[in-house]
Amino acid sequence: MLRTLFHIAAMALISAAFLAGCDPISRHKVLSTVFDGVPTLPPPEQICTEYTDKKLADLRDELSGKKAVADSVKPEESVHRPYGEKKCNDCHDKSKDSGLMRPLNELCLMCHKDFFKGPYQHGPAAVGDCLACHVPHNSPDGPLLKTSAKLICATCHKEPRAALSLHDKVADRKLICVDCHNPHYGSSPFFLK
Ligand code: HEC
Ligand code: HEC
Ligand code: HEC
Ligand code: HEC
Ligand code: HEC
Repeated sequence: MLRTLFHIAAMALISAAFLAGCDPISRHKVLSTVFDGVPTLPPPEQICTEYTDKKLADLRDELSGKKAVADSVKPEESVHRPYGEKKCNDCHDKSKDSGLMRPLNELCLMCHKDFFKGPYQHGPAAVGDCLACHVPHNSPDGPLLKTSAKLICATCHKEPRAALSLHDKVADRKLICVDCHNPHYGSSPFFLK
């Protein structure tokens, strides 16, 4: 019973966080009021402020100068299986205002069931904002990424790292963020693989 109540409360919070959109300040406030163990973030206004296409283009230019990072991963084309199989109506429903079977924050999890396999969930994924990083149909950057895996994290994370000395060496060693971090969830607070 208590567990169920807890789940309902958690769901309400997650929806509240979703309504707050990609605003980490309000989301973090909501989350840290109730859950112990929500990690202390860097100054929150620094996360997610750069979340626009224009800034993304600037960032891409900026990073293309850093060859060590840029060369470490080759883009691979990917096509979403239901799109490739022309199962458009698995996701689209013309009778709905949104044109989609389910609201965007539920659509992906309709098929990707039991997606989260760890107690810790990454902000945008946790609120169902899969399209913060993915596209629904096809992409030149696999797996269905908006921009290549080597750039995607930096579209939001420009804040200085607490583990600064470690992250400073990441580019030199030709590593990218997802070599060590799972982008969705994990069994440790920073979703380490
Ligand atoms: C896995 C779910 C899924 C499938 C399958 C799918 N779509 Fe979509 N589609 C979406 C979502 C989600 C959006 C909205 C994207 C957004 O808001 O950024 C969208 C947007 C669109 C749009 C609006 C313009 C655009 O590209 O953003 C068109 C047109 C479209 N889809 C056509 C199709 C057709 C035709 C098919 C089948 C060949 C198809 N879709 C299959 C999820 C899907
Ligand atoms: C109608 C069912 C369905 C829906 C809805 C759906 N997916 Fe998928 N998705 C699939 C299937 C089937 C695969 C292929 C799984 C496999 O190959 O094991 C897949 C694979 C993927 C992959 C891996 C692609 C690759 O190249 O490896 C990603 C990423 C993905 N989906 C993201 C999404 C996102 C984001 C949404 C919401 C916009 C979504 N999916 C909604 C059915 C769906
Ligand atoms: C913060 C960016 C981000 C968000 C948000 C995100 N993803 Fe991903 N996703 C990635 C990246 C990056 C990869 C590739 C990981 C790799 O190469 O190791 C990926 C890979 C995947 C894959 C294929 C490999 C796997 O892990 O199974 C699926 C399926 C997928 N994502 C589904 C989703 C769904 C569903 C959501 C929303 C609940 C979501 N993603 C939200 C960044 C994201
Ligand atoms: C769409 C914007 C966005 C993208 C893209 C993004 N993140 Fe995040 N990330 C966030 C937000 C917002 C938070 C704070 C979540 C919260 O307060 O619940 C966060 C938190 C984190 C945390 C936990 C930090 C802490 O102190 O708790 C890690 C680790 C992380 N992200 C890694 C990544 C990695 C790795 C990628 C690329 C795969 C990535 N992020 C891409 C928005 C993003
Ligand atoms: C070599 C593995 C590795 C790579 C590559 C890596 N990280 Fe980390 N990251 C870690 C470890 C380990 C921690 C935990 C540090 C701790 O516990 O103090 C961490 C912590 C974090 C945190 C939360 C605490 C902090 O330091 O701010 C964020 C956010 C984060 N990483 C984002 C990223 C992003 C974005 C990238 C890509 C630019 C990235 N990481 C690349 C290993 C890595």
